Amino acid sequence: MNKINKRVKSAIYVRHFESIFKCPTCGSSMKVSESKSLTCSRNHTFDFTKQGYLNLATNQMKTKYSRELFEARRKLMTEADFFDPLIQFISTVINEHSGNKKDEIAVLDTGCGEGSHLSTICDRLSSDFKKEVMGVGIDISKEGILTAAKNYSDKIWSVADLTNTPFQNGTFDVILNILSPSNYEEFNRLLNTNGLVVKVVPQSDYLKELREGLFDDPEKQRYTNAETVKRFNENFHFVDHSRLRYTVNLDNPFIQALVQMTPLSWAATNEQVNSFLEKDSAEITVDLDILIGKKT
Ligand SMILES: C[S@@+](CC[C@H](N)C(=O)[O-])C[C@H]1O[C@@H](n2cnc3c(N)ncnc32)[C@H](O)[C@@H]1O
Ligand SMILES: [Zn+2]
Repeated sequence: MNKINKRVKSAIYVRHFESIFKCPTCGSSMKVSESKSLTCSRNHTFDFTKQGYLNLATNQMKTKYSRELFEARRKLMTEADFFDPLIQFISTVINEHSGNKKDEIAVLDTGCGEGSHLSTICDRLSSDFKKEVMGVGIDISKEGILTAAKNYSDKIWSVADLTNTPFQNGTFDVILNILSPSNYEEFNRLLNTNGLVVKVVPQSDYLKELREGLFDDPEKQRYTNAETVKRFNENFHFVDHSRLRYTVNLDNPFIQALVQMTPLSWAATNEQVNSFLEKDSAEITVDLDILIGKKT
């Protein structure tokens, strides 16, 4: 498919869901116009890019997340199934706690990065639980959204700030927030009655082998969640709190991707990074807290 077609194809897809948007500039409702733009009733216009995503961020923020980082995350997810148990867990949770009475689910991934989590979760909800899913992914990083739009169609991808999103109140059944910052006031505004929020945060052993390889004092980089859990439970009705811990054996090409995919290496010396990169293989621990709440 050529790039012009991708722009038009996205516009046609988004037209089915145009009522979810509110103008990032003035807050009024929006429509897809001429199969190329999303335009509000006061004529603020946002064009679909040639890759098929929208840029609805009011401030363009520079982030340290590069295209290489997102490509590395994607490689680990799609070729090494690095987060597969997590994806399976989240899909089941959504089906149990939100979707089991509904056949159609609107899912927003806030800080979706390169989009593999959202895409795979939507696919699982369709294939395993026979749901019709509208998947929307937002990230402040243009590089992340561009990578998502290139690889996954039939989703809505937008550069947007999760603290001030371009969507109407009560639009979503589920909000995903995976290893990303959050804004609970905004999440509550976006969720419909009984809407579910699934937040994933690192637990103490997350990537511990990498941290041990990169830092003389791995305790310095140890994750502690007590404050995050407390804040989450103050903002949502508690549904569940699970810890998911497993290991994945990675061989060298995936070790390269692991080092590239995480901001952890930004704080390490070149020497430490290089010595980790020389490993033939490594057993890597994934250790995550999954917080599940409902709209208050
Ligand atoms: C560690 S990455 C996780 C990405 C993805 N959820 C994953 O698990 O692969 C954190 C993401 O949060 C995004 N992010 C940070 N601040 C944001 C904001 N204010 N609005 C939207 N996205 C943001 C970053 O650009 C980055 O893609
Ligand atoms: Zn407007």
